[in-house]
Amino acid sequence: MARDPKYDILFEPVAFGPKTMRNRFWQTSHCTGYGSDRPGTQARFRGMKAEGGWAVVCTEFCSIHPESDEYPWHSARLWDEGDVINLRHLCDEVHRHRSLAGVQLWYNGMHSPCLESREVPRGPSGLPSNVFPERCLYDAVADEDDIRAIIRMYVLAAQRAEQAGFDLVEVTGSDSTLPMQFLERRYNRRTDRYGGSLANRARFYIELMAAHEMHDAERERALGVLGQQHHGIEKLVPQDDEVERHRREDRGQADRRRAIEAAEAGLERRRLGEVDAAMAGGILLEQ
Ligand SMILES: Cc1cc2nc3c(=O)[nH]c(=O)nc-3n(C[C@H](O)[C@H](O)[C@H](O)COP(=O)(O)O)c2cc1C
Repeated sequence: MARDPKYDILFEPVAFGPKTMRNRFWQTSHCTGYGSDRPGTQARFRGMKAEGGWAVVCTEFCSIHPESDEYPWHSARLWDEGDVINLRHLCDEVHRHRSLAGVQLWYNGMHSPCLESREVPRGPSGLPSNVFPERCLYDAVADEDDIRAIIRMYVLAAQRAEQAGFDLVEVTGSDSTLPMQFLERRYNRRTDRYGGSLANRARFYIELMAAHEMHDAERERALGVLGQQHHGIEKLVPQDDEVERHRREDRGQADRRRAIEAAEAGLERRRLGEVDAAMAGGILLEQ
C-alpha cells in the first residue's frame, strides 16, 4: 500500500547536533531489565528496534556511578571499562542498521538503594527518600566540592558513553533524579547559591549541562547532548548561554560577577512564568 504523502516528513533525515537521524522515529529511554548485565540480550533487543526502522534507539536509565547504584533494579551502567565493553555491543548492533544509539545518564541521589555498592549518595539536603521510605534511603549533603565532583562524574560517564560508541547522551532530569532534587523545594532546603530562589535551584542543572556542552565543544561536539525536555529544563538551559558567556569572557572578576548576577536576575524575572507553564502536568515548582 502506498504511503500517504502527508507522512513523508516522518521519513526524512533530520540533524540532531552533530549527528543525523535517518528519519524522525526516536525510541525514548525505557527499561527492559537487561541493563549492562545482560549485554547480548540488550544488544539484540535494541538492534532489532534499529532494524525495524527507529532512527534513534536509547538505553534505559543508565547509572553514572556506584553512588547511584539502583540494585535490586536493573539499570544500564557506565561505571567502568567493563560497562563500556558490555554496552559497546548495543551500539554496534544499532549502528549496523544505520541508526543512532542514545544513553540516558542518571544519578538518583537520595533515592538510590545502593544495595550492591553500599555507597552513600550525595544530594542537596541530606533527607530520607520519600520514594522508598520503607528502605531507609538517604543522601549526604553535597557541599560545593561535592557538586563539582558529581558534575565531573556525569562528564566522565559521557566520556565512557562515547568510548562505547553512543551517539547521543540524555541527561535525565525526570523521576526525581538529582537535577530535580535541586530544582524542587521539597528536596532542596539549601541556603547557599544552590538553594532558595528558582535561579539558585536551577544552578546545578544549568552547570551540569554547561559542563557537558563545554566538554563537547572541546571535542568538537562528538556527542549530541540533551537535557530532559518533558520537565521543561530546556526553558532554563538557553539562559545558560547568557550566564556562561559572561562567565567565560576574560573580564575582571568584579565585572564578571556583575554580569552573571544581571543575567541570573533576568532568568528569574523572565522564566518563572514559563517554567511553571512548562511544568504543568508534570512537577510544579514552588517559587
Ligand atoms: C516499562 C517502561 C520503562 C520505562 N523506562 C524509562 C526509563 O528508564 N527512562 C525514562 O526516561 N523513561 C522511561 N519510560 C518512559 C518512556 O520512555 C516513555 O516516555 C513513556 O512510556 C511515554 O511514551 P509512550 O506514550 O510512547 O509510551 C519507561 C516506560 C515504560 C513503559
